[in-house]
Amino acid sequence: MLKYIGNPILRKKTKEIKVFDDHLKSTIDKMIELMHQEDGIGLAGPQVGISNSILVVDISSIAKNEQPRAFVNPEIIETEGQSIVEEGCLSIPGVREEITRPEKIKLTFQNERGDKFTEKFDGWMARVLQHEIDHLNGVLFVDHLSPIKRQLLIGQEAIPQTY
Ligand code: CO
Repeated sequence: MLKYIGNPILRKKTKEIKVFDDHLKSTIDKMIELMHQEDGIGLAGPQVGISNSILVVDISSIAKNEQPRAFVNPEIIETEGQSIVEEGCLSIPGVREEITRPEKIKLTFQNERGDKFTEKFDGWMARVLQHEIDHLNGVLFVDHLSPIKRQLLIGQEAIPQTY
């Protein structure tokens, strides 16, 4: 079910979600379930073969007062500061690297019913959201590394998984 690096869907920009129905709700439930199964703190649509702008986050294992959340059509509209944090990705098993990103973000997004929100995030939420929003744009965390380091870690990604 999980898609791994080398799968072209991870490199495709996702489509905006325009239909907020029961199917979307069950997709969110399934994504949260899989994220928990895999011990992840975030999961984006492309990682489960869905090329739509949807992601789920649950940082309750590392932060207080958190619960699983879904973000539909999220867009970063402001950033502030800078922080360096070690990241990993369910789609790139075995690779963990320190990545520099903005420390705080301001986000517009919709919930599963289509209601629109603007909210500020910092700490782990800001970090995970940026990683997952990258996925929605076909970007993987190793793309933030120098080309040499990236090559060393993941090699020639363009080579197909099956020949
Ligand atoms: Co990831």
